[in-house]
Amino acid sequence: MKVLVVGSGGREHALCWKLGQSPLLTGLYCAPGNAGIAQVAECVAINAEAVDDLVAFATAKSIDLVVVGPEAPLVAGLADKCRAAGIKVFGPSAAAAELEGSKGFMKDMAAKAGIPTAWYGRFTDMEAARAFVRAKGAPIVVKTDGLAAGKGVVVAMTLDEALAAIDMMMGDKVFGAAGDELVIEEFLDGEECSFFALCDGTNAVALAAAQDHKRVGDGDTGPNTGGMGAYSPTPVVTPELQTRIMDTCILPLVRTMAAEGKPYAGVLFAGIMVTADGPKLLEYNVRFGDPECQVLMARLKSDLAPVLMAGAEGRLGGVTLDWRDDVALVVVMAAKGYPGPYEKNTVIGGLDQAGRVEGVTVLHAGTAARDGKVVATGGRVLGITAIGPTVSEARRRAYEAVDRLDWPEGFCRRDIAWRAVARGL
Ligand code: AMP
Ligand code: GLY
Repeated sequence: MKVLVVGSGGREHALCWKLGQSPLLTGLYCAPGNAGIAQVAECVAINAEAVDDLVAFATAKSIDLVVVGPEAPLVAGLADKCRAAGIKVFGPSAAAAELEGSKGFMKDMAAKAGIPTAWYGRFTDMEAARAFVRAKGAPIVVKTDGLAAGKGVVVAMTLDEALAAIDMMMGDKVFGAAGDELVIEEFLDGEECSFFALCDGTNAVALAAAQDHKRVGDGDTGPNTGGMGAYSPTPVVTPELQTRIMDTCILPLVRTMAAEGKPYAGVLFAGIMVTADGPKLLEYNVRFGDPECQVLMARLKSDLAPVLMAGAEGRLGGVTLDWRDDVALVVVMAAKGYPGPYEKNTVIGGLDQAGRVEGVTVLHAGTAARDGKVVATGGRVLGITAIGPTVSEARRRAYEAVDRLDWPEGFCRRDIAWRAVARGL
C-alpha cells in the first residue's frame, strides 16, 4: 500500500510516524512535509492547497490512499478530485467539509439531526442580530459564519460586549467576508473536550477524547493559539460519556449528512462542552485536531493504515480499535512571540537527546533541514509527545525532553494537563 499524507504540521508528522509503522506500507509520501516528517516519509515539494498538483502526483505514483491533514484542501475539493480520478482518499468532500467552513450550515445540520447543542440564530442583517441579543440577553456567544483563523468567536458576558462583537464582525468586517453572516448562540457552561471519530459515510468508529490548551500562557491566560498542548484520555470523558457522545453527537450527524446527500467520510472532530445536562456540541471540524492527533496516535495500538483504508472504502462497520493502557501528552514548543510575530530560521539543538527520554517522541510541526541543522520555520515548531502510566509521569517525561533541547528562541507552557494533574492523575 502506497500512502500520500497531505500537510506539513505536527498532526501530519504524527500520522506519518504511525502509518510508517504499518507492515502493509510499501511507500509513504508527504506533501509538503517538514524536517521531522522527512525521517519517516519521502517529502514531496507540493503545497497542501495545490489540489490539482496533488491529484497529478498521486496518479503518477499510483498512490493507493490519500490522507488529508488540514481543512483547507478539503474545503477546496481535494477529496472530490481524488475520487473523480479513481484514487482512494480518507477525508470528506467539499460539500461535507462545509461543516467546518460554515457555522450556520453546521448548526442547521445539528438541528436536523437532533443533536444536543446551543440554541442559535443566523443573521445577515445587523439590526436583526442586535434585536436577537437584546431579546436573549447575556451571556451569549457571537460567531462569524465563515472561517476566521480561529478568532471569529466572542463569548460575551455582557450585552454591550455582544453588541460590540456584532459591530466589529459585521459592521467593521474585521474578518472580511467571514462576517457577512453571523451565528449567535446560547452560552454553554462546563468543561470542554475534543472528541474524535472515524467515519465512512454511513458508519462511525470512536477514536477517543482529548483536551487541548488553546491559550498561549500558563493558567490558560493570554491570546488564543492553534493549541499549546494536549493529553488523552481525559478524565471528564468516562466510557459511559463516550458512548453517549457517539450516540447523541456523532452517529445522528452521520445519518443526517447521508440523508442530505452529503455523506461524511473522514475524521469527525466534535468540540464538546460537558455541561450539567450532559455533553453538548460546540462545533465540528472535518479533520484531526493539532496537537490532539499527536496524542491519539501515541495511544493507538492498532495499525492505522488498514483502518483509514476501510474508512475510504465504506467498510468501517465492525472495525474495532486497540489502545495502549498508557496516557499520552504533548507539549508544543513554539517560537517566542507566537501567536504574534516571531523570528524564523533559528537553529534547534538537542533533538536527539530529547528523543532518547523514555516514552518520548519528538514530532516536528514547523521545521526545515538546512546545512545539516534543523531550523524553526513556523509559529508552532515541535510537539514533544510522551506516553506514561499516569498523566503526571507522561508530563514529567515530556518536560525532561523539553529541558534537553537547546533552542533559546523557543518556549512552551509548563502546565499542560493541569486539570488532570489537579485531580491527582
Ligand atoms: P469555536 O471556534 O466555535 O471552537 O469557539 C472557540 C471557543 O469559544 C471554544 O473552544 C469555546 O471555548 C468557546 N465557545 C464557543 N461556543 C461557545 C458556547 N456556545 N458557549 C460557551 N463557549 C463557547
Ligand atoms: N487544536 C485545535 C484544533 O486543531 O482546531
